[in-house]
Amino acid sequence: MNDLHGKRILLGLTGGIACFKAAELCRSLVKAGAEVQVVMTEAAAQFITPVTMQALSGKAVYTSQWDAREGNNMAHINLSREADAILIAPASADFMAKLIHGKADELLSLTCLARPLQKVPLILAPAMNREMWAHPATQRNVAQLKADGTHVLDVGQGDQACGETGDGRMLEAEEIVEELQAFWTPKCLAGQHVLITAGPTYEAIDPVRGITNLSSGKMGFAIARAARHAGAQVTLVAGPVSLSTPRGVKRVDVRSAMQMNEAVQQLTANAQVFIAAAAVADWRPALAADQKIKKDGSGDTPELSFVENPDILASVAQTARAQSGALFCVGFAAESHDLLAHATAKRARKGVPLLVGNIGPSTFGQDDNALLLVDAQGAKEFPRDTKTKLAYDLIQDIAARLVKH
Ligand code: CTP
Repeated sequence: MNDLHGKRILLGLTGGIACFKAAELCRSLVKAGAEVQVVMTEAAAQFITPVTMQALSGKAVYTSQWDAREGNNMAHINLSREADAILIAPASADFMAKLIHGKADELLSLTCLARPLQKVPLILAPAMNREMWAHPATQRNVAQLKADGTHVLDVGQGDQACGETGDGRMLEAEEIVEELQAFWTPKCLAGQHVLITAGPTYEAIDPVRGITNLSSGKMGFAIARAARHAGAQVTLVAGPVSLSTPRGVKRVDVRSAMQMNEAVQQLTANAQVFIAAAAVADWRPALAADQKIKKDGSGDTPELSFVENPDILASVAQTARAQSGALFCVGFAAESHDLLAHATAKRARKGVPLLVGNIGPSTFGQDDNALLLVDAQGAKEFPRDTKTKLAYDLIQDIAARLVKH
């Protein structure tokens, strides 16, 4: 499972009002399975107490290099060797300036300097006023930190504690956790562009009614996230769903199958992988009424006739790029029964190298699923697990196929 299970994170806090967000961050890291050891500078302790951070991390906080709890009195050595990564959040402008000069006049900067460079990555989540962030000195420091191999996360944009608005907010806790998860994911899709469809489509009957299906989009969104974490550039064409966009993923919202088809046809030109996870409506009303269809009191029901929607996956799979192998197409099959037989037949009908079968009624809207991967050689199962985990496994599987391809 690619969460933060078992990861030992040294969470360093430096002085800034964003320290209040470090409490939530610590909680989220622990919830994601990480072991968190907090180290705070004197300035950080002006904003939030070590007591709070101890309670949330479940470990005594370090604030001084003279901490007598360490048998060898070398907290900076011990802490930096016990960590899988050092995450400084918030990282103040002053602390970044210290780091580039290798200054080591208190425990946290000392620990950063003493860390084994090749083994313990240093990740910074900067937080400061927008003018401080935009200042050439800060930007120069950020560039130097990156050149030294430090991972400097983006800053957020918006209202700041000082009353100003702009760049410089610390990322939210869940965004930082997401960045760490991405950081530790093998980059098996680096340099690839992956196009994904997700969710249901909605086919209008009139301006207030339509037909749709129970797909929540969760599987497709989880795949988009996993592909992004694996280093791909990801475009997600989403039907009407209420899910937030995974970080770093480009999202194109559509409603109907026709709109989804149009978006996909335009986007396939740059993609190396197309994953059709959407539950596209097979038919749409032949004529969508301009105005709401009213009851006329006679008891008569409206006559609805349907036309078939374009099969997006099948048409993409028939393009020259897909036929030549430049575009690897993956289909899904949402079935209610006889999964292997239906998925095998569907793979042949759609003309795709890989088809992923699942039982629709037992997964729509849920956070877990079970997958059956069908290719020309046969079938293999990914047993029931979270959609997050299955998405990572599927992405790895697809990446391995691209190599052989
Ligand atoms: N699909 C598509 N365009 C459509 C219908 C389906 O791109 N108009 C894609 C889906 O995204 C999925 C695969 O085709 O990857 C299979 O979808 P599914 O709904 O299971 O199959 P259908 O082709 O609709 O066949 P049936 O409804 O008979 O099972």
